Amino acid sequence: MKRLFFTLWPDDALRERIAQAACRYLEGRKARAVRANNVHLTLAFLGSVDEQAVDEVIAAGDLVRAAPFELALDRLETWRGARVACLTTQMVPAPLAALVAQLRSNVQARALPVDLKPFRAHITLARDWREAPLDCRIDPVRWPVGEFMLAESPAAGGRADYRIIRTWPLRL
Ligand code: 2AM
Repeated sequence: MKRLFFTLWPDDALRERIAQAACRYLEGRKARAVRANNVHLTLAFLGSVDEQAVDEVIAAGDLVRAAPFELALDRLETWRGARVACLTTQMVPAPLAALVAQLRSNVQARALPVDLKPFRAHITLARDWREAPLDCRIDPVRWPVGEFMLAESPAAGGRADYRIIRTWPLRL
């Protein structure tokens, strides 16, 4: 089995800008920072999928038609229940909402699992948050998004990095 999810993965330059934007809120706090290489925004979480079904998941990604867009990461929040600190956005661009909706329906059409909780665009930067809650506006980190990916998550509790399985350009 593989733990799979569709995702947006920042390049090195954007990762650096994210780290800079967040460091004064997160540095030295009681929490477990997500390693820089692992920072990402999940579009659709499938969970455990049989090895043989990976080609079906890739086919679901192949069918996506969505325009490139710019995402403004302009809030830093902690979520009480999940005890995470994350970067979020005030405004989900229409092409991002369309991308998520297509991924969900393409995956469901193949009778594969997908998390259908309401989409909350976020990049988790720290887990096990043990400090006072945060909810602040930050200078937007502008992310021109031109591609999306399918990634594999390490086994729960594992220390391994995520692995990108496939990358697709965003196009109509
Ligand atoms: P998170 O960062 O908020 O934990 C890989 O696990 C990715 O899928 C993470 O970005 C995680 O979000 C996301 N994800 C979404 N739904 C999930 C779920 N039900 N279980 C585990 N991870 C989930």
